[in-house]
Amino acid sequence: METRSLPWSWYVDESVLRAEQGRIFRRSWQYVGHTGQVEEPGSYFTGRAGLVPIVVTRDRGDELRAFVNVCRHRGFEVARGEGRRAALQCGYHAWTYGLDGRLRAAPRGDREPGFDPAEISLVRVQVETWGPFVFVNPDLESPPLEETLAELPELVASAGIDVDALRVHHRSESELDANWKIVCENFLECYHCAVAHPSFSAMVDVTPDAYRLEASGAVSTQLGPLRENGTNGYDPTGEVERGQFHFVWPNLAINMLPGRPNLSIGPINPVTPSRSARFLDYLFAADADESWIEELVAFDSQVGAEDRALVEVVHRGVSSGAIEHGRLMAEAEQLIVHFQRQVAEALGGSNPTVQASGATFA
Ligand code: FES
Ligand SMILES: [Fe+2]
Repeated sequence: METRSLPWSWYVDESVLRAEQGRIFRRSWQYVGHTGQVEEPGSYFTGRAGLVPIVVTRDRGDELRAFVNVCRHRGFEVARGEGRRAALQCGYHAWTYGLDGRLRAAPRGDREPGFDPAEISLVRVQVETWGPFVFVNPDLESPPLEETLAELPELVASAGIDVDALRVHHRSESELDANWKIVCENFLECYHCAVAHPSFSAMVDVTPDAYRLEASGAVSTQLGPLRENGTNGYDPTGEVERGQFHFVWPNLAINMLPGRPNLSIGPINPVTPSRSARFLDYLFAADADESWIEELVAFDSQVGAEDRALVEVVHRGVSSGAIEHGRLMAEAEQLIVHFQRQVAEALGGSNPTVQASGATFA
């Protein structure tokens, strides 16, 4: 098994991020939001797939659609935030698009010879849902979402969670001073849990024989049973008996903590080679107790703060330029090995070592 990590230059190099945009983020399924944001015909929300701005709409025929949120005129973002509109009007020169993406009107268009709005529309991307979760894929040729998710919906159901019965409670957003891959890799191992997450490790059994790691295709899974008498800041008893932490290639984290039905889901997106943006949508049962939710969220935020400190320091180390690559633990970090292999394959080679010796990403 590969124990040499990806070259650390891949975490700082602009050309690698550019290659990742084209070869990873423009051709994979990514979580952008939830159906509650587009419940009514005429509603829309914005998000992104890697660095590609996306707008998801529910058009007047009740159909869910998604487009690159970039005006075909001069490239302004057509939609901002989320809301309800009869049409999407670009804020730069007021070109107006229907929620079906078609250009309806452009000021002074009638005075432009050969200008036909019917020939212009927003660039469509694929959109699909799993329960309340909305995914997009900029690649119109990519196979359907269910091929990416594979067994994941069943696994989540087996944890005692019916995703359709959950309600979105809130979204938590953050930016981190670390390459997006460092944030993903930190999510993909619990080798650091005993060292860095005392409250998490007091609740979940993170010892190697109890804590299970499984990678299959696009989905990497970590299953952590509740410790006997597991203690921490919230009451972890309930239908969900063991934590499930899933990662869906290339950048989606899904968490279910032990306790009553709960799930958080959200992507880790690159901003620059040294900065990432992520959000987590927190979902709970409709009748969940608000004070229990508050305690769980406080617990989770504490773990998140511990992880932020780790990845930001790692980014500084990795970007120092003094060391070429790291040494992975093939057993404890098998999900990182899987992830790095996917990155290397996507970027055009199956062997990171070969890639290290002078690959360029023009
Ligand atoms: S860039 Fe959108 S109308 Fe000009
Ligand atoms: Fe962590």
